[in-house]
Amino acid sequence: MIPANPDRFLADLHHLRTFGASGVDKGVVRPAFSDADIAARRWLAARMEEAGLTPHFDPVGNLFGIAGERSLLMGSHSDSQPEGGWLDGALGVIAALEVARASREVGGPPISVVSFQDEEGRFGVTTGSAIWSGNLDLAKADTLTDHAGVPFAEARARMADLAGDFVDPAQFTGFIEMHIEQGPWLDTEGDKIGVVSDIVGIRDMRVTFGGQQNHAGTTPMHLRRDAFQAMSAFSSAINDRFRNVVTPATVWTIGHVTLHPNASSIVPGRATFSMQWRDGDTDRLARMEEIIRSTAQEIAEARGMKLSYGPMLGLEPVVMDAGLRGALELGAASVAPGKWRKMPSGALHDATNVGALMPVAMLFVPSINGISHDFAEDTAEADLVAGLEVLARAAV
Ligand code: GLV
Ligand code: MN
Ligand code: MN
Repeated sequence: MIPANPDRFLADLHHLRTFGASGVDKGVVRPAFSDADIAARRWLAARMEEAGLTPHFDPVGNLFGIAGERSLLMGSHSDSQPEGGWLDGALGVIAALEVARASREVGGPPISVVSFQDEEGRFGVTTGSAIWSGNLDLAKADTLTDHAGVPFAEARARMADLAGDFVDPAQFTGFIEMHIEQGPWLDTEGDKIGVVSDIVGIRDMRVTFGGQQNHAGTTPMHLRRDAFQAMSAFSSAINDRFRNVVTPATVWTIGHVTLHPNASSIVPGRATFSMQWRDGDTDRLARMEEIIRSTAQEIAEARGMKLSYGPMLGLEPVVMDAGLRGALELGAASVAPGKWRKMPSGALHDATNVGALMPVAMLFVPSINGISHDFAEDTAEADLVAGLEVLARAAV
């Protein structure tokens, strides 16, 4: 038994929320390498040290609390979306910290803790764990930019005073990540725990249509080369053309748009937007890419647009390790008998990358109303504590 302490766990979880608290619901604004993110990581490092772990920052801002020579690794991320919930990532880090601390106190198994950097993709897709695992080359990562044009190299330099070497993954026997579900299924069905079977794959790139900036009052409609209209036509066309390729589980999103110069009385000359799609099947991801590229090309030709693409980022679908998953299933069956389920993850997680290095598994707790990536994200305290208990049992 590892006697994880629910009160200490909840107190730490609420304390982490004070870094970048939005003032709206329990939400946080703590994007990777922001002042709030760096302050939170310094606090976490101190909490790890108090728990008897050795804190260590790597060159890209990943923070480890190392338990000893050979240990189980647990954790998640503590950066947030630009408008983020208090539990996305934070829950997995603080639950891991509590289980590691409680285990040390009773001479239990050595457990190390990690908070990966930029899981939320300010620069890439799960950037910190992607670099650590070898899925993303550091030199390439350094050239990636956020939506404001800041390169990753410049952002990570903000933590250069803390940075040591990359941590050797060979010291870890496996990785378990606890997370909120971020979707509706557990909440809708009244289940308390989800044991993850697999994590979907993702593709993400920026697309730019370049037209002709012009006067919005004098330029006749038939002479316009309006980049917004091109983007809008593209969005409608792919929704239609995906129909024969996708399943009900497939998702795609245009979530970030920059119009230039973004003024009411100017026909937009340039539209740059994020194009992201996710599915559990690599072939389907590839077929969707073909549709995206051919549709964009057709629209560019028909409307006299220049077309360009940013770097293509992505992660492959990953299946969870049967052994670690079995440990979580046993924990779930004893903590929440008849109230747990096996389920896939439609959200991306650091576990995808870590799976390239060691066996990985994940557990979910419910998200109230299935809301996440929003200040309103929340989970009942009893469900947070049930997840902590399943994690502690599985760790043993
Ligand atoms: C990670 O937060 C994701 O976008 O799935
Ligand atoms: Mn997350
Ligand atoms: Mn997230």
